[in-house]
Amino acid sequence: VAVTYREAHRPQIHFTPPSMWMNDPNGMVFYEGEYHLFYQYYPDSTVWGPMHWGHAVSPDMVRWEHLPIALYPDSLGYIFSGSAVIDWKNTSGLGTANNPPMVAIFTHHDPEGYPAGRQDFQVQSIAYSLDRGRTWTKYADNPVVSNPGIQDFRDPKVSWHEASQQWVMILAVKDRIHFYTSPNLKDWTFASEFGENVGSHGGVWECPDLFELPVEGDPEQTKWVFLLSINPGGPNGGSATQYFVGDFDGKTFTLDPEFAQDVQPDPADPEREQAVWLDYGPDNYAGVTFSDVLDQDGRRLFMGWMGNWDYAQVVPTHPWRSAMTLPRSLSLHQTDQGLRVFSRPVKEISGIYSGGFEVLQGPTEGRQEITAAIPQQSIPLELEIEAMASPTESVGPFGMLIYNDTGDTLRVGFDPTEQRYFVDRSQAGTNDFSDKFTPVSYAPRTVFDPIIKMNLFFDEASVELFADNGATVMTAIFFPNAPFRKVALFSEGGELEWKKIEGRSMRSIWR
Ligand code: FRU
Repeated sequence: VAVTYREAHRPQIHFTPPSMWMNDPNGMVFYEGEYHLFYQYYPDSTVWGPMHWGHAVSPDMVRWEHLPIALYPDSLGYIFSGSAVIDWKNTSGLGTANNPPMVAIFTHHDPEGYPAGRQDFQVQSIAYSLDRGRTWTKYADNPVVSNPGIQDFRDPKVSWHEASQQWVMILAVKDRIHFYTSPNLKDWTFASEFGENVGSHGGVWECPDLFELPVEGDPEQTKWVFLLSINPGGPNGGSATQYFVGDFDGKTFTLDPEFAQDVQPDPADPEREQAVWLDYGPDNYAGVTFSDVLDQDGRRLFMGWMGNWDYAQVVPTHPWRSAMTLPRSLSLHQTDQGLRVFSRPVKEISGIYSGGFEVLQGPTEGRQEITAAIPQQSIPLELEIEAMASPTESVGPFGMLIYNDTGDTLRVGFDPTEQRYFVDRSQAGTNDFSDKFTPVSYAPRTVFDPIIKMNLFFDEASVELFADNGATVMTAIFFPNAPFRKVALFSEGGELEWKKIEGRSMRSIWR
């Protein structure tokens, strides 16, 4: 059944639940031609509550079909975040050789435990489906990992470790990560701990992910990338996702020595933590990758929750709250700063392109309206701009803005003097719902090429910036008083040379 969502601020190119509260993506897995997205869901309210796993499927990660709720809370508690795998060899015995089970591994959160002062109220459990994720059975002997007496003990991400022929679970434990191994998804053995003296500890660690990636341009070399969400403590306030690069032998993760210098405290200033962030914007949290794809193209596919715990529960949307980021492909690159993860929107997004355009010259100083060049309705919109700012001249900030007739403006751009990207939502509409709704966010430029590249995706209530081919990423949400339909470029002066201005309007994913 096709659905069309047209409420104010309803994303048109991003996944949203039909109604009610959503947070983290869960259990993302590819099976028999379908991408599965499960998600933290509370079907009775637009704020967080007893967690379920909502469910949707897609042929391309772009257009989604809503399915019934997959997992409901039970006597062991709410269903918190986790992952899903296809148990191809039926190691669990929960399926058959011909029909391998889809197994979900999640945290059971006992809401009674917390007020009662118990520390062991989060445990890890499993459930399985034998019909392509349509119906689920919880394992009779849950939990499969009991709690050693630690309050924050959650968000299992499980994957098959080919070299050691076993399952590996990584778990967020306060502000550390615990590794477990298993032959069958049911019996788990503690293997190691990671996290002391690395990265940001400004908040609790949540939603880890660990996967191997080839180093681009050097296919012989692979490294392990470790994603880790932290709340609060993000670079622009509240929730954000940091990462580490290193090696993994099936039991222990070891930081790459060069990368370690960027995430271990500086010996000269041991009090100051260092971290490398996957996305510098305020609204990409709890993101992890799809298990089991590596698809035909060898891609590592990611989606995050386009929200921030600082204010997600009070944003002015109704009757739903929150969206997912665009699906992204992650890759590992050797840069001037060492190994870095780049994020790029997946190519499947081209399936919703509706009309392309090009603008031949940008403004040298001031604003230049480009709305008339856009053949279809201007938002949702992808824009690609490239410009050269002479490093020897002083060049003012430049970029693009979207605006409406009520005076709201959202600005995204680059400041050559500071060598940083920015998203300015200070004038982009309603923002009085929270004093933690960061007005302007910044991200450092990490690739030093004379040409500055910005690839932007604007939706009704969000922008995603992929700069320098995905080296710097910013995701931010906003809530204009009337839809943004006008688009302009701006330049605050100096020797700026526009090299490329092109874009594509996009169709709603719900049509
Ligand atoms: C992250 C998180 C997870 C937890 C879930 C609960 O946003 O706090 O750690 O499992 O949300 O909904």
